[in-house]
Amino acid sequence: MSGAVKKAVIPAAGFGTRMLPFTKAVPKELVPLVDKPVIQYVVEEAISSGIEEILIILSTGKEAIINHFNPAYELETRLNTSGKTELLLEITSIGRGAVISYIYQQQLNGLGDAVKLAETFAGNGPFAVLLGDTVLDSNSELPVTGQLIKEYSRCGHSVTAVEAVPEEKLSRYGVVGGKWELPGCMQVETMIEKPAPGTAPSCFAVASRYVFTPEIFPALRATPPGKNNEIQLTDAMKQLAASGRLNARVIDGKRYDLGSKAGFITANVEFALRRSELAGAIETELEKILQKRKSDRV
Ligand code: G1P
Repeated sequence: MSGAVKKAVIPAAGFGTRMLPFTKAVPKELVPLVDKPVIQYVVEEAISSGIEEILIILSTGKEAIINHFNPAYELETRLNTSGKTELLLEITSIGRGAVISYIYQQQLNGLGDAVKLAETFAGNGPFAVLLGDTVLDSNSELPVTGQLIKEYSRCGHSVTAVEAVPEEKLSRYGVVGGKWELPGCMQVETMIEKPAPGTAPSCFAVASRYVFTPEIFPALRATPPGKNNEIQLTDAMKQLAASGRLNARVIDGKRYDLGSKAGFITANVEFALRRSELAGAIETELEKILQKRKSDRV
């Protein structure tokens, strides 16, 4: 199975319990990284990887995500009349470059169940999956989804992004095991979702991006509820791995999980320090805060 990867699915259902109480009324995919919601970074990564059609999977109460990608004519008129042309350009270009559609996951039965809803959208071709609460910052010109698409073109079957994770954190992730085909490219033989301490098959954890062939759909249909009594995407991928039809690509970049409190704060500090108009003020304040903590301790 081959063909260009032009479609992407962004699962954005789920309660966002790790970020409560903020996520009681606001989708976790809309937490800001400096001044842009995380899902906008995800959509931009997809578009700059060559994706032309995006399906966002929502759950009830997450309509603010639709509003974010819809035009806002009154706001645009206001920005126009007040001469804020740079901001106007930024606002009108949100999501431009891809056709975005939405579908609702009626019951929150897990990531595998959410991806299953994309079958009609995907049709007979390959498609990417990008989790809506995680930013992947590439070290090169090629975004991380683009890196997976490149690996898919080479190996011809499904590919998952992975990254090396310290032993004590492996039980938070899906973990792959297998043999290295090339530096950074593993043929996956086994997978475990959130392995108990000491049972992970390697130190390489699934990192929020995937490219699937339609083979994933029959595998998902054959997948019973697993961890947390949910349909786990990892369990369906395990079936592809068992027939030698799943590769893992070590990402050339850094993952920022905005769905956790510590991840949200540190990513914001790091990204804000990259902005020349903010860096000076933030650095000075941060130094003061850290200095005070130090002197309070002695
Ligand atoms: C999901 C996947 C897991 C993966 C993780 C990060 O878990 O089930 O395999 O490692 O995303 O990409 P979640 O963070 O939704 O619990």
